[in-house]
Amino acid sequence: MKSGKIPNQVLQVGLVFLIVGATMILVRQRFIPESFGELGHYRADAVEVNASHEIQFAGWQACAECHDDVVATKNSSFHRTLSCETCHGPAAEHAREEAEEDPPLPTGKELCLTCHRYLVSRPTGFPQIIEDRHEPAKACHSCHDPHDPVPSERPESCAGCHATISRVIAVSHHAPLDCEVCHEAEPEHFLRPRAHLPRKPFERDFCGNCHAAGIETPANFRGVDLTALDIPKIEQDTHGGTLLCWQCHYQHSPEAR
Ligand code: HEC
Ligand code: HEC
Ligand code: HEC
Ligand code: HEC
Ligand code: HEC
Ligand code: HEC
Ligand code: HEC
Ligand code: HEC
Repeated sequence: MKSGKIPNQVLQVGLVFLIVGATMILVRQRFIPESFGELGHYRADAVEVNASHEIQFAGWQACAECHDDVVATKNSSFHRTLSCETCHGPAAEHAREEAEEDPPLPTGKELCLTCHRYLVSRPTGFPQIIEDRHEPAKACHSCHDPHDPVPSERPESCAGCHATISRVIAVSHHAPLDCEVCHEAEPEHFLRPRAHLPRKPFERDFCGNCHAAGIETPANFRGVDLTALDIPKIEQDTHGGTLLCWQCHYQHSPEAR
């Protein structure tokens, strides 16, 4: 190879770069929208395009003007947090009296099941049903008023909702103790559990009421007759250091190990 002459391979690679570069410039000019980058890494005009869409949803307040009875019922029911249009679909046009047809009545099951079909990942206590076992032959609204769904009968005992804990405690050393011995629960907890959580013990002294050596356990502690029970004692000041008792003993099934 003589010096001074550019080798063939370099020319070939150069050509490839030239083609790619030219294509990129073409693509940029042809496909990247003008306003791209003005406000950041997106097309600035998109904001205007979206803002120009016609508003589809009116919001439940708008419905009240003409359907005040339905709004009043719904807003004091278990469905108070749902918007009308969650079920009836976008109805802004209807609310402006410009729609040709009334909003649909969602009488199918699928809508209700979207929220009420049993799913493990839903929060504990959210009303759920298993569709195949819950009156499969009938429409949901034939039994439940969608604007005022009546809750199912509330369980009478803690076990109705806390079945696992109840079963565990029933075969433990703490079997003689009712839940209320350790948790003060307002009656409202049975109706709106999450809004009225019962109290939980938060300090060692609480367990010490029964277990601390030298402390006279009252014969009747929050309704439990302790006189007939043989309660094991510990030196509360030293036993387990300063850790909370339930960091070592599971409170619902304590063991001395
Ligand atoms: C300006 C008054 C007005 C407003 C506002 C309004 N509606 Fe209506 N709506 C009517 C009238 C009138 C009818 C037809 C008469 C009827 O069937 O009750 C109707 C019918 C309906 C129907 C069908 C009833 C049926 O029996 O088929 C639904 C569902 C409905 N409206 C939902 C809504 C929702 C949801 C909103 C709020 C986003 C709303 N409406 C806002 C006046 C109004
Ligand atoms: C959980 C879903 C759901 C929500 C939320 C809901 N609806 Fe309905 N609505 C229905 C269903 C289902 C029917 C049909 C009931 C039937 O045919 O028995 C219906 C019926 C209606 C009707 C006609 C019959 C009647 O009962 O008067 C109107 C009007 C109506 N809804 C308006 C509203 C308005 C206004 C709101 C908000 C305040 C609202 N709906 C909220 C599901 C819902
Ligand atoms: C967008 C979600 C959603 C849809 C759709 C929906 N629900 Fe609900 N439903 C809820 C919420 C939220 C509650 C209140 C739960 C609570 O208070 O813990 C509720 C409560 C209920 C309850 C009371 C149950 C109880 O024990 O507290 C019944 C019954 C019910 N819905 C039936 C229906 C029916 C029938 C439909 C269809 C017409 C329907 N739901 C559609 C969200 C929905
Ligand atoms: C034949 C009447 C009937 C039909 C149809 C019906 N239900 Fe029920 N539903 C009941 C009764 C009664 C209860 C209360 C007893 C219970 O908890 O099983 C109830 C309870 C519920 C609860 C509360 C469950 C809980 O744990 O608090 C929900 C949610 C519910 N139904 C949703 C639906 C949905 C969604 C449909 C349609 C797929 C439907 N139901 C169809 C009669 C019915
Ligand atoms: C209607 C169903 C229901 C009944 C009945 C019920 N609970 Fe609950 N409980 C719940 C739900 C739901 C939660 C919240 C669970 C969660 O957040 O995971 C809860 C939470 C709790 C907590 C935890 C509080 C916290 O801060 O973490 C305690 C303690 C408790 N319940 C005790 C009781 C006792 C005691 C009774 C009987 C007097 C009882 N519950 C009856 C549904 C119920
Ligand atoms: C000996 C006292 C005692 C008794 C009896 C007791 N608990 Fe508890 N429970 C506790 C303590 C202490 C905690 C808090 C533990 C923590 O903060 O980690 C607790 C926590 C809970 C919690 C929230 C954490 C969890 O484990 O899910 C629930 C729910 C609960 N208890 C329900 C019940 C129910 C229902 C009963 C009756 C069947 C019951 N408890 C009986 C002492 C008790
Ligand atoms: C660091 C872990 C730890 C902590 C914290 C702890 N314990 Fe213990 N506990 C044990 C062990 C291990 C045993 C079994 C050996 C023994 O008796 O020391 C036991 C035994 C017991 C016994 C049975 C004693 C007997 O004679 O049968 C009781 C009752 C008891 N603990 C209550 C409590 C109480 C109440 C608290 C809180 C004030 C507490 N524990 C804190 C680890 C702990
Ligand atoms: C109302 C009194 C009372 C309270 C409060 C109480 N316990 Fe107990 N505990 C008992 C009784 C009674 C027994 C023994 C029952 C039996 O086995 O005969 C017991 C047994 C135990 C045992 C021994 C289990 C074994 O293997 O022998 C441990 C550990 C224990 N409790 C821990 C706790 C902890 C931790 C707390 C606080 C969350 C607590 N207790 C609160 C009454 C109570």
